Amino acid sequence: MDLFEYQARDLFEEHGVPVLQAKVADTPEDAKKGAEALGGGTVVVKSQVKIGGRGKAGGVKLAHNPDEAAQRAEEILGLDIKGHVTKRVMIAEGAEIADEYYFSILLDRANRTYLAMCSKEGGVDIEQLAEERPDDLARVPVNALTGIDEAKAREIAEAARFDAATTDKLVPVFQKLWDVFQGEDASLVEVNPLVQTAAGDIIALDGKVSIDENAEFRHETHAELRDIDAEDPLELKAKQLDLNYVKLDGEVGIIGNGAGLVMSTLDVVAYAGEDHGGVKPANFLDIGGGASAEVMANGLDVILGDDQVTSVFVNVFGGITACDAVADGIVRALEILGDSATKPLVVRLDGNNVDEGRRILDEANNPLVTQIDTMDGGADKAAELAASR
Ligand SMILES: Nc1ncnc2c1ncn2[C@@H]1O[C@H](COP(=O)(O)OP(=O)(O)O)[C@@H](O)[C@H]1O
Ligand SMILES: [Mg+2]
Repeated sequence: MDLFEYQARDLFEEHGVPVLQAKVADTPEDAKKGAEALGGGTVVVKSQVKIGGRGKAGGVKLAHNPDEAAQRAEEILGLDIKGHVTKRVMIAEGAEIADEYYFSILLDRANRTYLAMCSKEGGVDIEQLAEERPDDLARVPVNALTGIDEAKAREIAEAARFDAATTDKLVPVFQKLWDVFQGEDASLVEVNPLVQTAAGDIIALDGKVSIDENAEFRHETHAELRDIDAEDPLELKAKQLDLNYVKLDGEVGIIGNGAGLVMSTLDVVAYAGEDHGGVKPANFLDIGGGASAEVMANGLDVILGDDQVTSVFVNVFGGITACDAVADGIVRALEILGDSATKPLVVRLDGNNVDEGRRILDEANNPLVTQIDTMDGGADKAAELAASR
C-alpha cells in the first residue's frame, strides 16, 4: 500500500527523521488555519496524491502568508495530476534549500536483497537520472539482517561521493530512514528531495513510503493509513469478510478453492467467453480450503453485489473439504441469501466425495443452479448464460 506524503512525513517524524512541521487541510479555510498554526510565515501548499511529479504539474506552490495559503489551496484542491484528483493538501513550512539530494531503500527482487540508492542530484526525475547518468546514482546492497548501521550509511554516502562534512550529517539520517523501512515493514522508502538547508540542516522534504499489507497484523496503526475512499467498494466489503477477492471488469463471477484453480478458471472462462460475445471473468475469488456455508454465502453475496455480473461459475475441487460439504455450503448459502440471489449459478464439483456432492445439489433442485461435470464445460455454460442476459 502506497502512503500519502503527509502519512510518510508522520512516520518519518515518529522514527526521528528530520522533517518540517506540517498540517493537512481539505478546504482553503483549513489551509489558512494550518498556515497560521505554523506561525503565519512562508509555507508550501502541496497536493496530496499518490503520484510523483506534483511540482511540475502545479501541485506544489509557495505562499507567503495564510491568506495566500488559502488561495493556493483553492487552486490545488480538485487539481487532477495524471488522473489523481487532489482531495487534500499539506501545508508545510517553507525551507531555504541549499542542495537537493536523493535517497531511497527498496526491495531488489532480482538480487534477493535490499538496495539503497543515493545521489547528490535530487529533486529531479530519478528514472531519468538512472538512465542518462547512471554513475551519479549510487546503488548499495543492504543486508536484511544487518540493515543500515553507521558503517553502511557511510558506505552509501561515500558511494554517492558526498564530501566528509555532508557525509557526517547524512549518516544518522540514513540510519533513521532504515528504522522506518524495517520498523514499519515497508517495501519502499524514498526521499526526493532530501535537502540541506542554507543553515546546514538535513531535512526529508518529500517522502514516498509503501508498506507491506501482509504485515498489517504487526502494526495496529497501519489499518488507519488506508485510503478507504479510493478502494473499490466490493473489494473493501470482501476484505471485511476476510475473502481473497479481486475485482475484474467482466461479467462471469468466479468462485473457486485454491489460488491456482481460481487462476486457471479465469483463463478457461476468458477462453470460453470468446465464443459468447467476448464475456470475461468478473473477479478472482479464492474461498480457500475450509469452504463453509458461511464463506460460500459471503463470497456469493460479494459477487452478486457486482452489478456487472450476469452469471456465476463455482468451480470447486474437493480435497480436505469434500464435495458434499461444499454442496451443503452452496445450498445453505442460497437459503441465507434468499431473494437476493437472482443470477444463474453454474457449479462444477470434482474430487473427494463428488457423487454425494452432486446428489445434494440435485436434490436441492434450486432453479438457479446448473451442474456441469467438467471445468471447460462449466466455463462454457457460465459464459453462455452471462452472454444471454
Ligand atoms: N517545504 C518546502 N519548502 C521549499 N521548497 C519545497 C518544499 N516542498 C517542496 N519544495 C520544492 O518543490 C519541489 C517538488 O516538491 P516535492 O515534494 O518533491 O513534490 P514532487 O516530487 O511530487 O514534485 C522540491 O524538489 C522542492 O524544490
Ligand atoms: Mg519529490
